[in-house]
Amino acid sequence: MKNYIEIKTNRLVLRPVRLENADAIFKYRSDSITNKFQGWIPKTINDVYEFIKHRVASEIDVVGTWFQFTINLLENNKLIGDVGIHFFDFDKQQVEIGFTLDKNQHGKGYATECVTAMINFLIEKLNKRRIIASIDPGNVNSIKLVERLGFRKEAHFKESIFANGQWHDDLVYAILKNEWMKNH
Ligand SMILES: CC(C)(COP(=O)(O)OP(=O)(O)OC[C@H]1O[C@@H](n2cnc3c(N)ncnc32)[C@H](O)[C@@H]1OP(=O)(O)O)[C@@H](O)C(=O)NCCC(=O)NCCS
Repeated sequence: MKNYIEIKTNRLVLRPVRLENADAIFKYRSDSITNKFQGWIPKTINDVYEFIKHRVASEIDVVGTWFQFTINLLENNKLIGDVGIHFFDFDKQQVEIGFTLDKNQHGKGYATECVTAMINFLIEKLNKRRIIASIDPGNVNSIKLVERLGFRKEAHFKESIFANGQWHDDLVYAILKNEWMKNH
């Protein structure tokens, strides 16, 4: 599939991340309090350039890579967050999803709207059959988000992730294509 992808919802448009988005991304991603459950918190704008250049794939659906979309308001194109897809499965049937919104945009249903559209895209266009999310047990808003969308908690790993100088537990949530199709 070619990389120019645009996914529209009622209020949002998702597009592949580009270097010119670095400024806007730095503004909300560098907020170390809101993003305390995330492994990557940029300290400088250069960290964001490096991330986009070296840690995000230039092509979607490549095994072993992350592909990153920006989340933009449809009405004025303002960049308000990002959603990443990790193509971790050698058989190309399963992906991991991660999401971040600018804290000024929390509580408006944007993440629910964005992740719903992304899952439809992953199932309908990329033929994925299982989608997972890896979440810190303290990340209440993320847990509410995936449970609202119908994900099931499949695992609670104890101290399985080392990030920001300490060990963290990890919850794995998942949804299968047939479960998603029953409700969407
Ligand atoms: C995870 C994250 C994206 C969730 O954001 P969120 O704002 O809670 O989720 P949504 O945008 O879907 O908004 C849902 C809330 O908006 C409310 N809402 C308001 N208008 C709404 C609408 N039109 N549609 C749906 N919900 C609406 C819902 O009732 C819900 O409120 P509640 O949490 O009080 O129940 C956000 O907390 C975040 O960016 N956190 C920091 C980064 C992070 O930790 N990422 C996850 C790593 S695993």
